[in-house]
Order: sequence, then structure tokens, then C-alpha cells
Amino acid sequence: MCGIFGCISKDSPVAPIIIQGLKRLEYRGYDSVGVATLYNERIEVRKDAGKIDEVNNRLRFSEMKGSIGIGHTRWATHGAPTMVNAHPHSDCNGEITLIHNGVIENFLEIKEELLNKGHNFVSRTDTEVVAHLIEEEFKNSSTLEEAFLKALRRIRGSYAIALISSKEPERIFCARNESPLVLGVSEKGVFCASDVPAMLPYTNKIAWVKNGEAAVLDSEGFTIVRIEDNSKIERGLTEITWTLEMAEKQGYPHFMVKEIFEQPQSLRNALRIQKQYMDLLTTFLDRGREIFLVAAGTSYHACLAASYLFSKFARLVTYPVVSSEFIENYGSSIGIDSVVLAVSQSGETFDTLKAVDYARMRAATILAVTNTVGSTLTRVSRAYIVQQSGPEIGVAATKTFTSQLIILAQLGVRLARMRGKISQDDLDEIEGVFKIMPDYVEKALENNSSKVEVLSKKYSGERVFLFLGRGVSSATALEGRLKLLELGYVPALAYPAGESKHGPISVIEEGTPCIFLCPKGETRKEIIGSIMEMKARGARIISICEEGDAEIIGLSEDYLEMPKGIPEPLSPIVYVAPLQLFAYHFACNRGADPDKPRNLAKSVTVP
Ligand code: F6R
Repeated sequence: MCGIFGCISKDSPVAPIIIQGLKRLEYRGYDSVGVATLYNERIEVRKDAGKIDEVNNRLRFSEMKGSIGIGHTRWATHGAPTMVNAHPHSDCNGEITLIHNGVIENFLEIKEELLNKGHNFVSRTDTEVVAHLIEEEFKNSSTLEEAFLKALRRIRGSYAIALISSKEPERIFCARNESPLVLGVSEKGVFCASDVPAMLPYTNKIAWVKNGEAAVLDSEGFTIVRIEDNSKIERGLTEITWTLEMAEKQGYPHFMVKEIFEQPQSLRNALRIQKQYMDLLTTFLDRGREIFLVAAGTSYHACLAASYLFSKFARLVTYPVVSSEFIENYGSSIGIDSVVLAVSQSGETFDTLKAVDYARMRAATILAVTNTVGSTLTRVSRAYIVQQSGPEIGVAATKTFTSQLIILAQLGVRLARMRGKISQDDLDEIEGVFKIMPDYVEKALENNSSKVEVLSKKYSGERVFLFLGRGVSSATALEGRLKLLELGYVPALAYPAGESKHGPISVIEEGTPCIFLCPKGETRKEIIGSIMEMKARGARIISICEEGDAEIIGLSEDYLEMPKGIPEPLSPIVYVAPLQLFAYHFACNRGADPDKPRNLAKSVTVP
């Protein structure tokens, strides 16, 4: 996730302060770095791909002159991690220079409009469009602030922006929608940043900028206005008592739980993916004679759920395959008509890349969903989607799983439309549901977080758990089981519930905890049957069900209620959230480190 930092320094050159600020944002992950300072009413920009120290050694940021400036660490989303795509970005004349964290949804249409008006673009980023749009708006505005606000009203998407301009050399302009932005004031200067750690060495007196707000900083402090109508907002400073470590985790004790609670936002980002990339993947998928969904671990569970979605929405049979098994199982049948859709958060998982290489050699079409621009997977794919989840620091995949799911679900619906398998009304309805999925996840987390913590304590002495679900929920069950076993070190079992009587039922003893996934839908009657079977043998039933589902609640010793109205095929996106939280608390209760489970690596790049 990009880091932004801006400062108006009162008594010393700003560049060293910016470098220190950026270094404190390194934990967010990045691939390139850049700084812009204002001196003698001229903006100087230095930037490149690489780590802060290394780029600083080459470009000597610290020697840049001026007491006002901005700095950026970039986590690539649009355009490869190169010098040209690194931030800051400027307008045609280098008079407006800005940095951005987020995703501008409508950048392509604005870019086309500005190209027609003669603007020159140098990068492939969504960010550069904002600088040119402000330049354009300035032609019909009396102040830079007015042009800034007009431009902000035109852009859709998520952003935290900080801007300097030779037109107003004493100020920094910034704004926020859905990406974090914090302001700070001290004797030393006035600051803006994506995150509190960047300014902690200078001040602990901060003010959060909220969605839909812009701020203007000068050497005395800041003013905040509403972007919509330019009305002034009074906001005082809050004194925070966080240590640096707490600040990096935004006050959460671990990255994993921070990332679990980030899911509403990462889902919103995943819903903003450019339509033309979605269309490209959909076209290739539609052409395939057979489609393999290839991935490892959690990403494989996303593929498993996607195979149900593709079948339900688009009446399309796909083969979800664990990547290490792909060559043995399907290798000899891969050919020019095969499509391999590889799903990998890191884009570097050895087994997935090996499967992909094999399929490429046999002329198959390679498609990908990944979180990492510039990864090996993006380089070997014919077309790919970057899921825009931001870096995931906890070793266990959480937010990247739900983002993969919502992207794969959108592909399923697009395929259905392309293949004429969905009516206009159903299409409108499901697209409406996509938009509110982040809210469902938010509500599920809000309503259940304390109850999950209590349950994790109640069951913390258990030595085995069963996770059961039917249909698409069997993928949720597998993912819930994986989280618990990898973090809590519990050898748990997960099965499609219908399979339980073919073996797993024999492990049930009086009191064995059995976690059932029970969204309302086609599988409901059967799941009630499975609950009865387990209950009759003494299992303690913990159900994840829809709010107010009296029948399931009546059969359960414990239950967690999910919001009403989630279509069953999309239920894993919400129903997995309490299972992630359960595993997290379970690990904490046992004294394990949920961010760094033993023997595991974030990215498995070896055979
Ligand atoms: C589990 C987990 C792993 C990864 C797997 C694949 O919490 O994180 O199972 O899902 O190693 O990694 P990617 O998606 O990077 O290919």
C-alpha cells in the first residue's frame, strides 16, 4: 500500500524529514520511492524504483533544497514498478506535483478527455491524471484550491492525495476518500501522512482527515473543508499515546487482525478494478475448451469457491486444482485450447509458477489474479488482474482471500452475461449485491468480534475441530480449517458436509466441536440433516448462520449471526470473516504469534 508524507518545515530543510517519514512507512510495503520539494518557486522531483536507502544513495534526496515538500513510497497498482510510474507525478509544466495512495476508478475516461485537450502524459498511472485534471480546472478557477476541489469532485475512487505547486509555494493541499490521511502539527512543522508512525518523531498531536474532506496546510497549521461544498470543518488535535509499533498496526495488537478488519476496504478496492481488464479475462475464459483454476493454499480455496460460482452464474464447468498436483493430474491433456487461470497473492508461489510454465509450453492461455504487480506471474500471463488488496503482512492470507473471491465472482457474472446465461433482472440484482458486500463484511465483523473472542476462549482447550459446509460453503469450511490449523496448531478437519458420514463422523465423541457453515439457500435442508447427524452423536454444534435463523440457532450450542440477504454463492466472502477471527483469537489464547506461525513463509518460492 502506498505511503504518503508531506511537510512544511519551520526551521530546517525538509528533505531529510521526508526521508525519515517515508522510512517509518516502509512497513506498508513498496517498490519505488520519490520526493518533490519546492525551492525558489520551482519544484524539483527525484524518484526511482527501489528501496529508500538505495535510491537515496543514488539520487541524494537529502540534498534537495526547500522547506516544503512531499514524499511517496509506491506499491504498484496501475503500471509496473518503474521510475516513470513512481510518484510524485506532475502536470504538463511541472507546476503541480502530487502523490497519491488509492485507486482512481474513472481515470481512463478523464485521461482520454485530457489527451484530446492536448495534455502530455508520461506514465501509465491513474495518479498522473489528477495532476493534469487540476491543471485543466485551474484554467477556469481563481485559486488553486478551487481547481483542486473541482478536480476532486470529478474523480471517483479511493485516494489520499498531497500536492505542492509553484502557483502557491507556501502550502500543501491534501484530500481523502477511503484511503487514510492524518495531519499533525508541532514546533518543527506541519505534516500530512498516510499513517501516524510517519510523524511520531515530531508530534503526537494529530487530526484525522475524513472521507470527502480536503485540507490546506501552511506553516501555522491547517484548515479542513468538505470537498462537496467547500464548507469549513472545525477539527481539533487529538493527542495519541501509541508507541511506534502500535502505530504501525494502527492500534491493533497484530497485523493479522488489522488485515481482517481492513477487508471492507480491500473489497471496495477490488470492486474498482478496471472493466477492460475484467472484460479481457472474461473473453479469454469464454474461449477456453477447458478451464483450470490453479492455486495453492488459501488461493486454492478461492478457486474452489469460484468453480461453484462459475457453474451457478455462467453454467460453466471449471477445474479447481491444487497447483502442485496440476501437472500430474492434467498435464497430458493441456493444449492450445486450455485456459489456466492462476490465482496467487504473491505471484511467486513455486508450484503455481511451475504449473503455469508447463501449461505455457503446451500453448495454453495463461490468465492470472494476483496482488503483486511485476511478480513473475504477471510477466508470464497473457492477461491478469491485480486485486489491489495492498500488502498483506500477516503470514496467513485473510484480506487477499476475500478480494480474490469477489474478483472471481465478478468474472463469473461477466461470463454469464457474455454467454447469455443470465437475465437482465438477475444481472442488475447481483451487481447491486456486489456493491454492498463490503458493508456485509463490515457488519459481520462489527456484530461478532466480541462474541468470537469469547467463543475462542470457551473452546481453547479442544484438540480437534470439524468444519462442515455444503456447496460453495465447503470452500469456506476448508479455509476456516486452514486458518485454525496453521495459526492455532490444531489438526482440524474440513469436509463437504455430505461426505461426513463416509468417514469423518467416526471421530465424533461427546463434546467434539463441529463448526457448520449455514447460509440460507439451496443447501439448507441437507445441512440441517448433517447437523442432526452430528448432534445425535454428541457433537457440540457451532453454527455460522443468517441473522434470526431460528431453526439453525435452535440446533446449535453456539452461533454467530451473519447479515441477512447474502446470496448463497457469495456467502464465503462474509462467512469466512468470523472463522478468520476465531483462528486469530485461538492462536493468541494459546500464546502463538498469529502474524508468524511456525514453519510457514508468506511466499513459498521453493519446490
Ligand atoms: C494460508 C496462506 C497460504 C497461501 C499459499 C499460496 O493462510 O497464506 O496457504 O495462500 O501459500 O500463496 P499465494 O497466494 O501467494 O500463491
